[in-house]
Amino acid sequence: MLDEIKELPARYPQPRSAVMPALDLAQEELGHLTPEAMSEVAAALELDPGYVEGVATFYSLFHLEPTGKHRFYVCTNLSCALRGANEIVDHLKAAIGVMGPVQVSSDGLFSYEEVECLGACEFAPMMRLDHRYHHDLTEAKIDQVIAERKGRKEEIHLPARRRGASPPRSPGRSVAKPPGGETHVAIEPPLPGPPRKAGRGKRKDA
Ligand code: FES
Repeated sequence: MLDEIKELPARYPQPRSAVMPALDLAQEELGHLTPEAMSEVAAALELDPGYVEGVATFYSLFHLEPTGKHRFYVCTNLSCALRGANEIVDHLKAAIGVMGPVQVSSDGLFSYEEVECLGACEFAPMMRLDHRYHHDLTEAKIDQVIAERKGRKEEIHLPARRRGASPPRSPGRSVAKPPGGETHVAIEPPLPGPPRKAGRGKRKDA
């Protein structure tokens, strides 16, 4: 992984731009970003460790604590809240058996956090899970995706897509809503995560 990280700066006009994909790789490898991992990324990219830590703590897509294998990012901003997002969060917490966003389900599979607007208000209430958007949420849909993840034998996960040739796509409003579709917008990493809820983040000036 470090060899892969060391190759990243050559892909960018500004070598320091490689810090986010590098952190993304480290997180993918470790599950979350430990202080040691951030130090190693800084060394590999020949960057100041404080800068790397500043980036890691600014974006909510980077996790400094262990998370579930599948992390729900539930939007509880205005449009989603008006359409029942808080009830969705309550149901989700009960379904995965956690009390709050710092907890991981006992099987290690799930955790969640509430996030600000994900830019898909017309599909409210909505959330992101495993780099895909889920829209028009109901308690039954939450139960369904949890059951799917629990029953999945082989994860279709990031490495193949990340290191493949898929172009990034925007989760913007031009995305068509599939008839009856559950998930529809793929977000290709690296992307900055959604803004943290005020007062819950670990934002630190870079
Ligand atoms: S308010 Fe939830 S996506 Fe915009």
